[in-house]
Amino acid sequence: MTDPNTHLTVVTHPLVQHKLTLMREASTSTAVFRQLLREISQLLAYEVTRPLTTTTKVIDTPLTQMEAPVLAGKKLALVSILRAGNGLLDGVLELIPSARVGFVGLYRDEETLQPVQYYCKLPENLSQRLVIAVDPMLATGNSSAAAIDLIKAQGATNIRFLCLLAAPEGVARMKEAHPDVPIVTGALDSHLNEKGYIVPGLGDAGDRMFGTK
Ligand code: URA
Repeated sequence: MTDPNTHLTVVTHPLVQHKLTLMREASTSTAVFRQLLREISQLLAYEVTRPLTTTTKVIDTPLTQMEAPVLAGKKLALVSILRAGNGLLDGVLELIPSARVGFVGLYRDEETLQPVQYYCKLPENLSQRLVIAVDPMLATGNSSAAAIDLIKAQGATNIRFLCLLAAPEGVARMKEAHPDVPIVTGALDSHLNEKGYIVPGLGDAGDRMFGTK
């Protein structure tokens, strides 16, 4: 389901929705959460990479020659917004093993909810690549918008944002800051609570995937 006004695509595929429900359940273990995240990220990757363009090359099948489609242009770049982005990154990389990978380290100041940058390492030639920024939770949108600022500062012009869950507040913030960056998500939830957590959500994605709480 794509909303043309917000550039938001919610992946309503039943497998995505089923896996997401299992991930939301508080009783789901770290190991199962991680496995589900890997599986769901591959399904979401299928949607977020839809605009990739193809060219053709001549190949020999066992029966004949044919012009067959292959991906065109430079390898795409994945940018993980640390640390939770790494959970999405692993699954997407299994599907697109030759992608270039960058990392943006931002943590959220728990009082101001504003992002603070502590790391940034991005692939070269971003201006010639499709760049997919990944972070499971689009909450306030402050970190995501700041990460996209950094990616654009390196020359990227063709950027998409991939998340597992989005809050309306985060979608609005991204639309305001980066209306040219389409968002692909597994679900659009109700709202943020006073601590900036997505409701109903799934809790702290980093803690749940790394077992840190
Ligand atoms: N980050 C998370 O991990 N969970 C939320 O609900 C919001 C931000």
